[in-house]
Amino acid sequence: MNLRLLRCIRAKNVGPFLKTVLGSSQRDAVLTLLLARTVVCVLLSHFSYATDPITFLDKQRVWVLQAGESTYAFGVNERSELQHLYWGKSIGAEDFNSAHSLPEWASFDLSTTTTPQEYPGWGAGLYTEPALKATFANGNREVVLHYVDYQLKDDSLEITLKDEGSPLVVRLHYRVYAHTGIIERSARIENRTSEAVTLESAQSATWTLPPDRDYRLHYLTGRWAGEWQLQSEKLQIGKRVIESSRGSTGVEANPWFAIDRIGETDESDGPVWFGELGWSGSWRFTIERTSSDQCRVVGGLNPFDFSYRLAPGESLETPPFFAGFTDAGLGEASRMLHRFQLEHVLPGGPHPRLRPVLYNSWEATEFNVNEAGQIALAEKASRLGVERFVVDDGWFGQRNNDHSGLGDWYVNPQKFPHGLKPLIDRVHSLGMDFGLWVEPEMVNPDSDLYRKHPDWVMNFPGRPRIEGRNQLVLNLARDDVKEGVFNWLDRLVTDNDIALLKWDYNRNWSEPGWPEVPLADQKKIWVRYVENLYEIIDRLRSKHPRLEIEGCSGGGARVDLGMLRRVDQFWPSDNTDALDRLTIQYGFTEAYAPHVMVAWVTDVPNGINGRVTPLAFRFLVAMTGSLGIGGNLNKWTDDEIAVASKMISFYKQIRATVQDGKLYRLASPTESGFSAMQYISQDNQQAVVFAFLHSQQFGRSMPLLHLEGLAEDATYSVTTMNDMLEEQAEKLSGAYLMHHGIRLRLRGDYDASAIRFDRVP
Ligand code: GLA
Repeated sequence: MNLRLLRCIRAKNVGPFLKTVLGSSQRDAVLTLLLARTVVCVLLSHFSYATDPITFLDKQRVWVLQAGESTYAFGVNERSELQHLYWGKSIGAEDFNSAHSLPEWASFDLSTTTTPQEYPGWGAGLYTEPALKATFANGNREVVLHYVDYQLKDDSLEITLKDEGSPLVVRLHYRVYAHTGIIERSARIENRTSEAVTLESAQSATWTLPPDRDYRLHYLTGRWAGEWQLQSEKLQIGKRVIESSRGSTGVEANPWFAIDRIGETDESDGPVWFGELGWSGSWRFTIERTSSDQCRVVGGLNPFDFSYRLAPGESLETPPFFAGFTDAGLGEASRMLHRFQLEHVLPGGPHPRLRPVLYNSWEATEFNVNEAGQIALAEKASRLGVERFVVDDGWFGQRNNDHSGLGDWYVNPQKFPHGLKPLIDRVHSLGMDFGLWVEPEMVNPDSDLYRKHPDWVMNFPGRPRIEGRNQLVLNLARDDVKEGVFNWLDRLVTDNDIALLKWDYNRNWSEPGWPEVPLADQKKIWVRYVENLYEIIDRLRSKHPRLEIEGCSGGGARVDLGMLRRVDQFWPSDNTDALDRLTIQYGFTEAYAPHVMVAWVTDVPNGINGRVTPLAFRFLVAMTGSLGIGGNLNKWTDDEIAVASKMISFYKQIRATVQDGKLYRLASPTESGFSAMQYISQDNQQAVVFAFLHSQQFGRSMPLLHLEGLAEDATYSVTTMNDMLEEQAEKLSGAYLMHHGIRLRLRGDYDASAIRFDRVP
């Protein structure tokens, strides 16, 4: 737009010139035309300012990305490096000047280190975290990347860089999702030399924040059955690493970060820079604050045990790294990610199908599944209003416990003498669709598959194969293993009417060896495994377009945007205790949408921790995401069935708001004995609040709960659901609900309510 605008402004100066060369009436006509042209140009330039996601300033050699309410800019400096210029609140493109490298700090920190580069190779005296590190056949171990050219098309930009001493080429990709405010980055590294180049670190992006000394880092950690714990800490000088080197995403840290400013940011206000990686293998984020308070996040493939040899002509594409900025607090950062996931990541986007209410029989029967037992549960589930019936582990091979059978994907003839068809038919006749558990990437040594193909698991020859949950990991990096896995999955879905596969993955890697390929390529297993996993799922989905998948990894150990592109929902944790779940689910929503967060109502005392909570409390906790039932319905009393039916029918009235709406985390479960979540539907017509009292000191009053994000002058009718009591109470204005707040009638331990606010026309 700037060039167009500049040309227009220059056109305004032609008046005096025309006066000297033309008569006055001719001059007036020409001037009128020019004026009209100027007005059109100015309007056009404003229009294009509002809509152009990427602008290139030719003279300055600067690119300006406009993503929602934020601006991201970088340019080519006098050394031909691609230099970061800005990431933060919106600024007009015309304000940016050319990039100039920063001075060195004495002889110790050279200018290559003090100048923030968009994608620094390790070399030329770089002491900060590199985005790329390589070794060449001639022994050279540095890469110094210089700008070559660019291609810009609508919302996508490709910048080509080249090593100054060799034809090693890097193509940086940027894509702007202007509506959701998210920027996507990745890099493609191409070996155009005539010999092999070995990559030792290949990062997706370096995200540079404005220099500051008061940054706070938020990240998610966890353990099995205690996933999604939010951690927050001041960013000190040095490098802070969060990562997984386990072969998959991992539960100890999730590839998500948010950085805000201490004292300025909270849930609903202040600057936040945030991002998440689209990769389901080992990954690493290095969050670095230098001694001059520069701050950056470098993330991508984990360099641990990494070595990727590129033969001449070969290339490596890094995973996508998505990021955004908001000045409206951590809550808005989550809402931006949620919207982005729904519109651009989920397989069903931009309008993914609402998640059906499901029943899963795992906690009820464990491995003890058979046709009659599952049909009995299905009949009870359908009476509650359940829409999808899922059979979990135990239906195949000799899978009577977790010691045997994994890998033998035929229907167990003792448990299902007529195959799965009679059960599936019955489930259908009850008005539900059918789901089935699988764990395609694993094998029990006690299985026909392992006896036939012991070489199919990853291993270091001659060394023990360490088991986790009595199972080994198949080496999906091998194409024959990939084909074997695809073929049985394809057959299973072709032969049976399956609406959902629950795709489990119950251990991390040990002995990541791939002895069948040349030594120099064996470490490619870290990348090729994940690429082949993606290929299996992608092929399966394209061949069976109606198939949905639930991502599971002993709970939530493989939740990331790489999987989210391929699954419709996630199982966040094997911990189904309602109180523990409040913290787990709260953390989950920092990074991922409630739409994909499956939550079951299970029995008490809870199988994990023995806690007893009321059924209504369990339901309301599970309703804050995608509702499921996991209890043993054979044991539910008539009263419990009545509560469940009513709760499920209430959920169906609000599920679009919960699953696809805007989430406001009103009160954190980690800060007091009370927590609350609020959701507003995309069309702003409905809001829902869930409030949970964990425990109460006798006589201690409940705080007023202030809603957020409503229209001040709108009127809402308020319907409360607690302890099965549905009441049409009152009509209140948005202003009242937000400024005065609502008084909650909760008391004692594990009390909860859901309140629905419908906008009155
Ligand atoms: C994992 C899953 C559970 C269940 C079991 C079955 O632990 O997280 O939900 O499917 O496997 O073995």
